[in-house]
Amino acid sequence: MKEKYLKPQFETSDKGLLARAPAKVNLSLLIADKRPDGYHNLETLMAKITLYDEMLFETDKEEGIELVCNGLWSPAGEDNLVYKTCRLFYDAVNTEPRIKLTLTKNIPAGSGLGGASSDAATVLLALNKLYNQSIDSSKLHKLAGQLGSDVAFFLNGPLAVCTGRGEKVSKVDKKLPFAAVLVLSDINTSTKRVYGNFKEDLELFSSLSGQIKAHISKNRVDLVQKMCANMLAKTSFALDNELALLKKEIQEITKLPVLLSGSGSALFMILNAGQYREAEILQREIANSRGCNSIIVFDNEW
Ligand code: C5P
Repeated sequence: MKEKYLKPQFETSDKGLLARAPAKVNLSLLIADKRPDGYHNLETLMAKITLYDEMLFETDKEEGIELVCNGLWSPAGEDNLVYKTCRLFYDAVNTEPRIKLTLTKNIPAGSGLGGASSDAATVLLALNKLYNQSIDSSKLHKLAGQLGSDVAFFLNGPLAVCTGRGEKVSKVDKKLPFAAVLVLSDINTSTKRVYGNFKEDLELFSSLSGQIKAHISKNRVDLVQKMCANMLAKTSFALDNELALLKKEIQEITKLPVLLSGSGSALFMILNAGQYREAEILQREIANSRGCNSIIVFDNEW
């Protein structure tokens, strides 16, 4: 069943280059101290999943950057991170832009699934492909760091531990096959607001970090998600009662650990890769008792 969900990163057609930007989930998210630059130091295990935004790049265009957005969540103006990323790329290669980009959003904004960051990373990768890899990997990572904390993760993957403010990526070579039921409510969480209200707990951070490192060093990444270690969850739930209630109810319905991705609002449950039927049953139960939209995803392979 997974094969039906897995899509390639790039496809070339006579229309142009089609690139896919996968969403991510945080299998763990530990927050340490606030830094002088206002960001927080963190340690997170992230996995890409088979939910994709799509972007079509057409280069035989007039001078400039033309951005067309399909879907509900994306402003088509110069404020869009995709637009800013195009500009940054063309400045870096010292070339006048000549590109039309059609972005189809499937990853909801404000969900903690990294859609905007993944779009930005995918623009860098796709333009670099179209311009014959003119930017090397270390420069690409530097540009990614300027665009957002999570962007560098999406340049590689599909499974990595990220530290610093999120931009230091250490790939985990072990495969972690899973299926997940992803609950997408219409609650929109502000990451900035959640971090702004977060109360530091360095003791908890070190204890969870020790346990997670031990699991990873023993090649048991599968045990990390079972800890439900997301240190932003308490703050996200305290700030949004509707989200707290939704999590509680989903837990009661499914009798499974329910994780929050990033600062939310996406909630998810991890199953074994072969448990597609079970995932469908959970999906139906959630729809029947909460009328809530959920989708089935798998670990992404690239
Ligand atoms: O880097 P990004 O734009 O994704 O971050 C959004 C906001 O989340 C930042 O403005 C900051 O307030 C907060 N943040 C943080 N520490 C991090 C990452 C994000 O405080 N490591």
